[in-house]
Amino acid sequence: MIFEQAFLDSLIQAVETSRKYRDLQIPQATLMDILAYESQHSNSRKELEANFRKSLHNVMAPYLEEINYPAETAALKELHDQDPSQGTLKAWCQDRMRLHASSRERLPYLDAFYQKIFAVTGTPGSILDLACALDPLGLPWMNLPPTTSFFAYDIHQPRLAFLQTFFQLFYPQAQAIHQDILTDIPAQKVDCAFFFKEAHRLEKRRPGSNRELFAGLNVRWLVVSLPSRDLAGHHSLETYHTSLVKRSIEGLPWHLTTDMVGDELIFFIQKHD
Ligand SMILES: C[S@@+](CC[C@H](N)C(=O)[O-])C[C@H]1O[C@@H](n2cnc3c(N)ncnc32)[C@H](O)[C@@H]1O
Repeated sequence: MIFEQAFLDSLIQAVETSRKYRDLQIPQATLMDILAYESQHSNSRKELEANFRKSLHNVMAPYLEEINYPAETAALKELHDQDPSQGTLKAWCQDRMRLHASSRERLPYLDAFYQKIFAVTGTPGSILDLACALDPLGLPWMNLPPTTSFFAYDIHQPRLAFLQTFFQLFYPQAQAIHQDILTDIPAQKVDCAFFFKEAHRLEKRRPGSNRELFAGLNVRWLVVSLPSRDLAGHHSLETYHTSLVKRSIEGLPWHLTTDMVGDELIFFIQKHD
């Protein structure tokens, strides 16, 4: 159904000023993209409003965790002033990664996770971390040389401001970028892109979006991870998530290998030599 522009604008404005979302500064491109998709699948204003909110909640809300980013940013500066050892820095990062479901689940196998990835891709000279959340706090476990550039993308501005401070203080070769990776697919040519634990949600936002994203990235290796079980740990998602990745690259001349670390399925997609 076609809706009046003024009505669509009012829905976007309502989100941008809402208590739930106003501090997150979700890019307008994200809101417009979700709204455009939901407009095609709604038969009334009321239905569109409900579908828009539901889809946005699905993209953002599972991660509206209780992290006070300005306070954590100040704590980072204090930590830096103490000239911490690598062990102290790791302990600090672990405590913060525990506050977000995706990185919390990875804590028991952090070393093995990045080791396994780089054993396949080699040590990359450049990395994109797409829809990164707190994964960049894993940098102390990645053992990358200071020459490896690292670009972390997310749509949650307070989280990115925190990460940018972390980078400036401890990993000056890294950069935090506030950008929707689907509406504005990162264009840099890099060795390796991480896309961890988000492909299933992106596909829900707009079916076919992973295929679009994977095709648009100018990377040699695309490393996608997905949980092998549901959050409660009751059901295997292995077949479902494997078919999502296979469908996204079907008919394309890329090479796929799979592996698993802990409860995380890893898909190595090699786009070219
Ligand atoms: C499940 S978490 C990602 C977990 C992280 N990759 C990891 O494995 O530790 C989802 C994150 O993706 C971000 N996000 C969702 N959709 C996005 C998009 N289209 N572009 C950029 N970031 C996105 C959210 O703000 C949130 O921080």
